[in-house]
Order: sequence, then structure tokens, then C-alpha cells
Amino acid sequence: MKKKAVYIGMAVLAAGSILWGCQEKEKEAETETREVQIGVAVYNEKDAFISSICEYLGEEIYEYEKSHSGIRIRTEIVDAGGSQQEQNQQIERFVSLEYDLLLVNIVDRTNAAVIIDRASEAGIPLVFFNREPVREDIFRGQEVYYEGSDARQSALLQADIIADTFQEKPEVLDKDGDGMIEFAMLEGESNHQDTLIRSEWVLKGLEERGVPIRKITSATANWERSQAKALVDQWIDEYPGEIELIICNNDDMALGAWEVLEEAKCTDDMQVVGIDGVQEVQELVQKGKILGTVLCDTKLHAKALLSFIDAFAVRETKAEGIELEDERYYMIPMDMIVQEDEVQ
Ligand code: GAL
Repeated sequence: MKKKAVYIGMAVLAAGSILWGCQEKEKEAETETREVQIGVAVYNEKDAFISSICEYLGEEIYEYEKSHSGIRIRTEIVDAGGSQQEQNQQIERFVSLEYDLLLVNIVDRTNAAVIIDRASEAGIPLVFFNREPVREDIFRGQEVYYEGSDARQSALLQADIIADTFQEKPEVLDKDGDGMIEFAMLEGESNHQDTLIRSEWVLKGLEERGVPIRKITSATANWERSQAKALVDQWIDEYPGEIELIICNNDDMALGAWEVLEEAKCTDDMQVVGIDGVQEVQELVQKGKILGTVLCDTKLHAKALLSFIDAFAVRETKAEGIELEDERYYMIPMDMIVQEDEVQ
């Protein structure tokens, strides 16, 4: 690797004392602080889930520094605002500044080669998170990793939330009593691995569990609450009394859907289910207002990123001590968040 971490000399002057007319030599104790530089590039800082990971990362670093005296972790977080070109330039700058590690939430996951080649040439380790490049790209460079969650597992847990409710209390989901759930789906960005896999596997999971379903409509709201609101608003007029459940690829869209239903006073007619486990949705689930969500704990994602910082930038031991799957993947498990019995 190209450079070593920066050392900051901190001179601590000991108080001098005057003894028998002679000035005792002032003692100078010197402690050294080692600084590591981490470049964090996010696809869009307005994304609620991503900004929560970044916020927790800040907290984790703060705690880490408290328990590792002499280590200072400097992070520079940059936002690509949805532009891959912009993100490539941001990475180029991190590389030219010889940062110790890059954490990249790539804009276009099918377009990772430029970033990988640039970081590899410079000998800088690279960890992609949340937006997963294709496998061939991950294995294209020596020190390239992915941190995230298994999209299929999140979809199957979402299917479990729906199936469990349907088995225990079919009337909650099958409002018209025709023996099946009529649903609409709010999808994330169209080429995102989580959109493709979650949309497909939630339906497969329901099929495997023998839950009869019928799709009324679906559309992409790009993970965003405001776009989800606009769509659901339109669906209520377009399909009056037809939709019984809105399956959402993430929680921000679930919140948008729920807000519209609440404004239209039809929360009793339609259920909403999400994925992410953001605090706001967890609270609505506990109040019995949203059917459930899948917890993809952002704090655990931040801790995982910190373990890469610790291993690659601070201890410089590469991936030693990090539990990886398939040599390059750090996957965070998930959990269901469901309503307590009495609120359903
Ligand atoms: C997904 C998450 C979404 C959104 C997206 C961004 O994993 O569920 O809420 O943050 O990542 O890449």
C-alpha cells in the first residue's frame, strides 16, 4: 500500500519547576496520534436507510476512538446525488489523496469496474456496501469486498409476515372474503438487486406457503416516500375497494403508502408491509397500524463497516478476523418485526 497513516505529534509540556536558582529542564512528553483516512461515497444521502447507516457509523467511530487511544479515524462522506459520473470523480479524488480505505455505496451497481480498477491500481482496499456489484466485479480486484444483507432472505421474511397473518387471522388481509389476497406492489429502483430479488421472492415465498394471491398493480417508487404517496393516491382512485395489501420493497415507501391510506381514512381496508425496520415503521407496527417489517439493522451495518476500517486501515491485517462468506462477502442477518397479538 502506498502510504502510511499520518502521525500527529502532540507535545505535552510538563510544568517546569525552579530549584535552587536553576531552572529544571522542562520535560516534554510526546504522545503520538495515528490518523487514518476513510473515504465514504454514497449514492444519495437523502435515502433514509443509507443516511441511518452513515449516522451510526459516526457513532461507532466515536466509541472506537474512545477505546483506542492514539487512533483517529477521519471519514469524508460524499454524496453522488444519483450520478455515477459524479461518484467516479469523488473516488478519483479519494485515490489521489491516498486514503486508507474506501467504503462505496455505488450508484450504478452494474458499473463498478472503473472504481475497482482505480482503487486496485492504487492499492487501496475497497468495500462496497448496500448496493451489490456483480460477482465478477467483486472478484476483479485483490482487496474488494461487499457488505450487505441477503435480499432473498428479506423477501422470504416479508412473505412469512404475510403468510403468518393470513393463517392466523385471514380477515385482516382478505377483506372481501374471497379466499385470496389482492395486492399491489411498490418497488425500489428498477436495476437494484434488492428490488429485483425482493419483488420476485416475496411472491415465491407466499406461493411456497400456499397463500393465494392476485396482483392488482405494481410500479416503482424508487425507494422514496413521496413517489410512493403519489402512486398510492392514484391507485385508490383507480382500483376502488380492490387492493387489500400493499407490499413494499422498503420502509420509506411503506410510510408513504400508509400516510396516504391514513389521510384517505382507509387504513382498515388495506394493510401495508415493508422491509428495513426503520424506527418510524417499527413504532407503527407496534401500534398495529402497519402489518410488519423486516429489520435490516442499520447499526449492525455500521458495525460491519467499522470492522473493515479496524482491519484494513488501523490494524492493517487485511481481512484477518473478519468473518466472510465466499471470501469477499460480509452479510448481516435480518429479523421480522410484527404486531403483538393484541393489536391485530
Ligand atoms: C435497500 C433499502 C432501501 C434503500 C436501498 C438503497 O437495501 O432497503 O431502503 O436504502 O437499499 O440502495
